[in-house]
Amino acid sequence: MASRFLILCATYLFFFFLAVSSESSGEETIFDVRNYGGRGDGQRDNAFAFAKTWNEACQWSKGSSTVYIPPGIFFIRQKNPNCRTLAMNLGFAFVRSSKIDGLRSVNSKMGHINFFSVQNFNVTGVTITAPGDSPNTDGIKIGKSKDMHIYNVTIGTGDDCIAILDGTTNLNISDVRCGPGHGISVGSLGRNKGEEDVEGLTVRDSVFNGTSDGLRIKTWAKSRSQILVSNFLYDNIQMINVGNPIIIDQQYCPHGLCDSPGKYDSLVQIKDVKYNKIWGTSTSKEALKIECSKTHPCQDVELSNIDLKYVGHDGLVTALCENVGGSVHGKIVPGDCRI
Ligand SMILES: *[C@@H]1O[C@H](CO)[C@@H](O)[C@H](O)[C@H]1NC(C)=O
Ligand SMILES: *[C@@H]1O[C@H](CO)[C@@H](O)[C@H](O)[C@H]1NC(C)=O
Ligand SMILES: *[C@@H]1O[C@H](CO)[C@@H](O)[C@H](O)[C@H]1NC(C)=O
Ligand SMILES: *[C@@H]1O[C@H](CO)[C@@H](O)[C@H](O)[C@H]1NC(C)=O
Repeated sequence: MASRFLILCATYLFFFFLAVSSESSGEETIFDVRNYGGRGDGQRDNAFAFAKTWNEACQWSKGSSTVYIPPGIFFIRQKNPNCRTLAMNLGFAFVRSSKIDGLRSVNSKMGHINFFSVQNFNVTGVTITAPGDSPNTDGIKIGKSKDMHIYNVTIGTGDDCIAILDGTTNLNISDVRCGPGHGISVGSLGRNKGEEDVEGLTVRDSVFNGTSDGLRIKTWAKSRSQILVSNFLYDNIQMINVGNPIIIDQQYCPHGLCDSPGKYDSLVQIKDVKYNKIWGTSTSKEALKIECSKTHPCQDVELSNIDLKYVGHDGLVTALCENVGGSVHGKIVPGDCRI
């Protein structure tokens, strides 16, 4: 089997009803962690039992294999000298044709579930929680991966619910309940040499509740990579008290890391991004903010049926659009975006 699971430096990990399966032709074989010494009593360390189960499941060559973790609280502490001090809960790298169903991840010290260079991987029935003020606790983080489907997930953390990094293509996201957190974020992009395009993202039928951002794309002002971000669809999304419901920021430069803000323009080309039926409430007046690169203006941005209200009482909802080309259809509130 081509698949390989990596459980990276897990510290405190609680699983509830996890099945990770890897598909190939033939029968399915279940690898139950209890048969390898796993115990869901919330106390015993399951690191060795889990690693052993995964190893056997991944080496299984007579059909598909499923790692099964029954209901319970499975405590994991792995001690790995190669780990950074703060560890993510779970990571998958170079895995093909697999899925995760029914996992609960609680209080990771860093990102919760990381995907790197995976293909044909589905994630469903997953719940991820961490306090809203815990830094860098991204829910799901994806880089250099393709053909993924994430659906029916509930994510509330102190960072992005889902973070999409360079090299990701054909990613479908639906039925997400996001909040607290920083929303569903593409980027930040363009900062490093050798980054790859991000292409084919769909986010639909989802709710953001109390997040700082909703649908966000951010690229560094000073970029070393000239990449394309294209073919995105955001459809049927409800915003409840969201800071920046719709935001494209091509002057991204946090923590004063730029030597002179405003001096550089992003080389990342954003193209063919559709927003349809985005509605609800914003906690900032500028509910719609699309600030693109001067030298690489956004192309073919399409806005249709946008209805966002400002929850404050000190003014009306507004839009800010810079260097954007595209079209507007149907009812748009705020409607003062020049495209
Ligand atoms: C993932 O879901 C898609 C449908 O969205 C399906 O076509 C594909 O076979 C699924 N892949 C796995 C590995 O479950
Ligand atoms: C969504 O996931 C939850 C587990 O988080 C599960 O209980 C529920 O049945 C799933 N809903 C659907 C429609 O599959
Ligand atoms: C994503 O959705 C598109 C359009 O519905 C579909 O063509 C594509 O196969 C889907 N990809 C995955 C990985 O589910
Ligand atoms: C949004 O979040 C608030 C605060 O956590 C909660 O009271 C409310 O029920 C949520 N609304 C929805 C529709 O989920």
